[in-house]
Amino acid sequence: MDKTIGVIGAGAMGSGIAQVAAQAGHKVVLVDTSEAALERSASALSKVMARLVEKGRLKAEEGAEISARISRSTHFTDLAPCGLVVEAIVENLEVKKAVFREVESHVSREAILATNTSSLSVTGIAAALEHPGRCIGLHFFNPAPLMPLVEIVPALQTAADLPRQCLDLMNAWGKDPVVAKDTPGFIVNRVARPFYGEALRIFEEGIADIPTIDAAMRDAGFRMGPFELMDLIGNDVNYAVTTTVFDAFYNDPRYRPSTVQKRHVEAGWLGRKTGRGYYDHSPESSPVSPSPDSDVREQIANRIIAMLMNEAIDAVFMNIVTPQDIERAMTRGVNYPQGLLAWANEWGLQTVLWRLEALRDRYQEDRYRPSPLLREHVATGKDFKIS
Ligand code: NAI
Repeated sequence: MDKTIGVIGAGAMGSGIAQVAAQAGHKVVLVDTSEAALERSASALSKVMARLVEKGRLKAEEGAEISARISRSTHFTDLAPCGLVVEAIVENLEVKKAVFREVESHVSREAILATNTSSLSVTGIAAALEHPGRCIGLHFFNPAPLMPLVEIVPALQTAADLPRQCLDLMNAWGKDPVVAKDTPGFIVNRVARPFYGEALRIFEEGIADIPTIDAAMRDAGFRMGPFELMDLIGNDVNYAVTTTVFDAFYNDPRYRPSTVQKRHVEAGWLGRKTGRGYYDHSPESSPVSPSPDSDVREQIANRIIAMLMNEAIDAVFMNIVTPQDIERAMTRGVNYPQGLLAWANEWGLQTVLWRLEALRDRYQEDRYRPSPLLREHVATGKDFKIS
């Protein structure tokens, strides 16, 4: 592959991906239709490099070399020398298709065209190309320079050897890549849905208040509770991912969005970025204490974690991902305290099944159906083989 990497979109993700490629030694051409976005990206990179130098992670000349490897342009024609182009523009299928068609007219026949989409179909984007076999998903996590996980998502049309090439390249960039099927939410955005959805449901039912649900999940080993995390991500962004996954799964009740979250979006209570979300983030706010009742907290954590385990097991059942890769994805991509399959083995798969069946008996909802793979493993006394 030609060593020059193209990145389209100089927002949060594109800027991070450009930095990762430049740090791995590539020349990078960063293209955005907005001059202002390119300028913001350049000044953000200078600050990041200065900080890395200050902390002793880079020598001053290395920082300068990395910065010098990135050129910026508003013209797609400048992508001509690139062996790989990663697109990270606005999440809109029609806009992405138009950009891919345009890029294809400038690059060589061998160039790989990748999309960083988190919720659109890679197959749908590839269909815009004259040579769709060169298209693949490379889904980085925010912030791209810090999060090791990259989901590699072959489209239906992707050439057979391309996932392997991308795995090698991502490993060379110091990333931790996993291959995922082109299905809604890929791995992480699908398997993590109950972390938010079940927490919202528990709150809606009045089982506990928000600080208590967050505390329950922190007690269980998660770095942040679901509501704190939604406030950090932004309720608008998190709600949009949930609705996309729900729609793409033809309204499967497991992924049903929450009215409480919708109301927060409508109110403009998006989280930290607006000063208010589930919590008041203003300087004068005083923190609300969680309930000290450890039984309630344990029940909450068990319910959410059982749902997460079921989701992980079902992703394996549906051949979205291998057991080994799902463990890496959730620990490396979203910092889960441990892999969900290993955790399920530790609980005992019979216990996971009991907890899900208790929920289903209580609510009579399909949302709580245990994965057939979980039932089969329990029936045959098997554990998940992870290594
Ligand atoms: P952003 O809004 O920060 O940046 C998008 C950039 O694309 C802007 O600078 C905009 O000027 C530029 N742009 C828009 N249309 C363009 C066009 N037609 N040609 C060239 N440049 C164009 O967005 P962000 O957050 O960086 O997301 C970009 C992509 O990455 C989206 O597909 C998103 O779903 C995906 N993604 C986002 C993550 C996140 O946490 N923000 C995580 C993983 C993927």
